[in-house]
Amino acid sequence: MYGTDLAQIYDLVHRERGKDYQAEAETVAAVARAHRPGAARLLDVACGTGAHLRYFTSLFDRAEGLELSEPMARTARAALPGVTVHPGDMRQFRLDATFDVVTCMFGSIGYMASEAELGLALEAFAAHLEPGGVAVVDPWWFEETFMDGYVSADVVTVDGVTVSRVSHSARRGTASHMDVHVVVAEAAAGARHFVDTHVISLFRREQYEEAFRRAGFTVEYLPESPSGRGLFVAVRT
Ligand SMILES: C[S@@+](CC[C@H](N)C(=O)[O-])C[C@H]1O[C@@H](n2cnc3c(N)ncnc32)[C@H](O)[C@@H]1O
Repeated sequence: MYGTDLAQIYDLVHRERGKDYQAEAETVAAVARAHRPGAARLLDVACGTGAHLRYFTSLFDRAEGLELSEPMARTARAALPGVTVHPGDMRQFRLDATFDVVTCMFGSIGYMASEAELGLALEAFAAHLEPGGVAVVDPWWFEETFMDGYVSADVVTVDGVTVSRVSHSARRGTASHMDVHVVVAEAAAGARHFVDTHVISLFRREQYEEAFRRAGFTVEYLPESPSGRGLFVAVRT
């Protein structure tokens, strides 16, 4: 999961699929500043290749990332010289800093395998926020909104590299299992194939809200967001 193969094609695929990282980053900045007008310091947890961080760096005085996968973090550091990307696990990180805003985008919170892990992550977010600071979380699909059997397919070509990505997601118990099949083809190198399997929890909306409250936040859910899954906006009390 999120090894070198996936890190190499991640940006290319999502950009060409039309994911609008700039619009998402601007939405996050606006909703965060609605609660904390002078917000200047942001931490993007599970920042991946830094696709939101690229825009957060111009929307905030200081923006840093935290990422579990070394290949993803390496890609982010290469793309964003001078931007700090901490190695770390959202369930147990401790940085020597606090922020006005902590973000966790593109369903990354769904990698928490249980409500207990969800609680640990939100407690870690709270521990890195100033009182009155804001956590903005783009959740994975809820148990009630997930489409069992969902298939997604894209073929993109950029700079002589063609990538086909086909995924299938199925509900197994309280998690979605997503198999992602990727073929990468280049004229000189030929074609190669890899498969990545993701197990992403299908928490219910109330489970997220309860976990935020337990971690010391007041929380609201905004159903409209560029990602389509809504956004949790939570203020550290
Ligand atoms: C769907 S990607 C999202 C990346 C990025 N936020 C974006 O919007 O493109 C999920 C990311 O979560 C990271 N991740 C998964 N579990 C994590 C954990 N426990 N702590 C930190 N990052 C984690 C993965 O390595 C991956 O980079």
